[in-house]
Amino acid sequence: MTPFDWNFPTRLSYGPGRIKEVGKIASEFGKKAMIATYAKGSPLDPVIDTIEASLKEAGMDVVIFTGIEPNPRAQTIDKAIEIFNAEGCDMVIALGGGSVIDGSKYISATAFSGGKSWDYVVLGDRTPREYTGAFPIISIPTISAAGSETNAGGVITNAETNEKSFSRSPYRLPKVAIVDPEILKSVPLRLTQDSCIDIFSHLIEHYLSSHDESEFADRMTEGMILCVMDNFDKIINDLENLEVRGQLALCSIFGWSGFQALGRLGSIPMHSIEMPLSAYYDLPHGRGMVVVIPAYLEHLSDALPHRWAKLARRCFGVTEQDDAVAAKMLAGKVTEWFKRTDSYLTLSDVGIPDDKFEQMADDVVRMFPVGGDQVATPGARPVTKEDIIKVYELCK
Ligand SMILES: [Fe+2]
Repeated sequence: MTPFDWNFPTRLSYGPGRIKEVGKIASEFGKKAMIATYAKGSPLDPVIDTIEASLKEAGMDVVIFTGIEPNPRAQTIDKAIEIFNAEGCDMVIALGGGSVIDGSKYISATAFSGGKSWDYVVLGDRTPREYTGAFPIISIPTISAAGSETNAGGVITNAETNEKSFSRSPYRLPKVAIVDPEILKSVPLRLTQDSCIDIFSHLIEHYLSSHDESEFADRMTEGMILCVMDNFDKIINDLENLEVRGQLALCSIFGWSGFQALGRLGSIPMHSIEMPLSAYYDLPHGRGMVVVIPAYLEHLSDALPHRWAKLARRCFGVTEQDDAVAAKMLAGKVTEWFKRTDSYLTLSDVGIPDDKFEQMADDVVRMFPVGGDQVATPGARPVTKEDIIKVYELCK
């Protein structure tokens, strides 16, 4: 096992109707809250009203910032930061999916620490600025996908340069996540499919990343993958099932919490390869993962065949004993699953042409380098620019 530090400081408040407690909970942390969320005109509008009423009932002042995009733009986040500071807010309530919660993390920590949101992201060999602290965040996820509601990560897009990148900071861990399945039940079918597959992508990023043995991490991950698969089948036939929404919420939270990776640090660069699809074409992140996963698994099966084979055997019913052969079977099994759940999509299905593959691959190796034209796969063979182009080719 790789040595590690891990803790889980975010309080989870789970249950149908718990959203009404937000005022009581938030008043433990501040006096003037910014509610950060998507543009108005969505099914979430009544939830914004509920949150505002609950905060006011608890004696708090409220500023509402709407308009955070599905791929949150640094420029929009910077506007929110200006308003946050001008209004004298002292905490953020993030109501939305991973994009809104990620954006809210940049609002809270950048408003506290100064500068612009983009100063803090990983970008090639520049040293990102470091936060000095953050205002408290309460996350209220409206989709179970990114796990952002309880982790330190955050991805934003620079709309001026078509770059999408990330950072992590323990300052940005939400103080409380209010997980209310009554809110989650309104997620439409396609978004639910994308979200379940995004959860799966997080679970396999560490599992497939290194030679380090950590049977605990493996078994936890496999259990969550099986739980996602079981509940995926159920939810696509019963979108408003609160129990199933709750199970998927837990998979989202613990699937990207670090808990699934104890003793097996590092991750394959599958998300890095998806990022240009969102940055250039504004493809929703989860849908981008639907497109990229089968191609990545197919092309990189030789990177760590015994890990690919283990996943194929333990979660996808493969009985083949030869690792190299079993590893090659994984992409086909995952594709079968995506097709069975009517989730499978190619680049052409989502309207993305093939004329920027080289440019997008250049972006990935420039923004997330480990030396030369390679990006990291700890413990396995590096992933090169040519590999990335090949993955895009297989996504067509
Ligand atoms: Fe993701």
